[in-house]
Amino acid sequence: MHIEQNISLKHYNTFGIDVVAKYFISIKNITELKEVLSLEGYDQKLILGGGSNILLTKNFDGLVINNNIKGIEIVSENQDFVYVKANAGENWHDFVSWCINRDYGGVENLSLIPGNVGTAPIQNIGAYGVELKDVFESCQALNKERKKLESFDKDKCDFGYRNSIFKQQAKGEYIITSVTFKLTKHSHILNIDYGVIALELDKKDLKTPSIKDVSEAVIRIRESKLPNPKEIGNSGSFFKNPVISKTQYQELLNNFSDMPCYTVSDNKVKVPAGWLIEKSGFKGKTFGNYGVHKKQALVLVNYGGAKGSDILKLSELIQKTVSRIFSITLEAEVNIL
Ligand code: EPU
Repeated sequence: MHIEQNISLKHYNTFGIDVVAKYFISIKNITELKEVLSLEGYDQKLILGGGSNILLTKNFDGLVINNNIKGIEIVSENQDFVYVKANAGENWHDFVSWCINRDYGGVENLSLIPGNVGTAPIQNIGAYGVELKDVFESCQALNKERKKLESFDKDKCDFGYRNSIFKQQAKGEYIITSVTFKLTKHSHILNIDYGVIALELDKKDLKTPSIKDVSEAVIRIRESKLPNPKEIGNSGSFFKNPVISKTQYQELLNNFSDMPCYTVSDNKVKVPAGWLIEKSGFKGKTFGNYGVHKKQALVLVNYGGAKGSDILKLSELIQKTVSRIFSITLEAEVNIL
């Protein structure tokens, strides 16, 4: 095993923040992962997948372990469903493309989400009416203490909106090594009611779209609204959409009559954070080499060379301003380190 020293993490986080890891290793299988976890003499160990949900604000003094376990295989199938196991180090969109190319349905709405397969369950990634939990069968995760692999079914993962057991009770205890998905082989259940998707399909006059058509529509929408991390450093939505009471929402409507919302339950609604940030005047604002994306206010961007600490300060300013204007607390969706 080769541990490198003083490695820049710039290419290991989609924000493109240039901080240095004192020690760095890329692991390709579970045996290597177990060995690295057993190594002594490192105060801290950080597991990094695709680095798409992290804001690095300072150099990391410990050992960064890049989870690079690759491989996709069919584990079983019947007439209607195929169960596909993808290892944690597979790029998420490459996995989606693998499914679309074989006409396996379920993940098409999740096209082009940055990051790796192994981190997808942690925050239950979601887009355009579909969440990871909808196609999730199980995952395997290595218990860091016991160095043992454990299996998690859907119930055990306790998925919620951008949430799971891996962000709550089991935070920091496990490293996900693979995820098994349950996908349809035919009679695909398309989720195309989401406004922008329906519009995009209409534009192409697609009355009976295939999963490939849906995937392509999602890709076009994302490319038109969200910055490509390969070109402009970003981490997707920086904040979660806040959930507030219906009572507070009704009161806010007195002053902000065009405030959108999605119903969550009888007495709760979710308000788009992008709307709140735009109304607070931040959309498209730049502060030198970082700022708020001009087409989607929920996305903070690094135009090149920005410091993580500057982006963190901007996020705090946004939180304060939104709280002052709307009395709503924005919670970061990305992990801050
Ligand atoms: N909006 C604004 N201004 C903005 C952005 C949005 O007014 O700058 C308004 C829009 O007009 C719309 C509403 O906010 O009425 C919702 O916007 P959008 O459909 O773009 O979705 P979102 O709620 O901002 C969520 C996810 C995205 C996901 C999209 C599509 C969260 C935190 N974000 O964004 O996920 O792609 O829905 O399903 O739930 C991600 O997690 O990284 C991510 C990009």
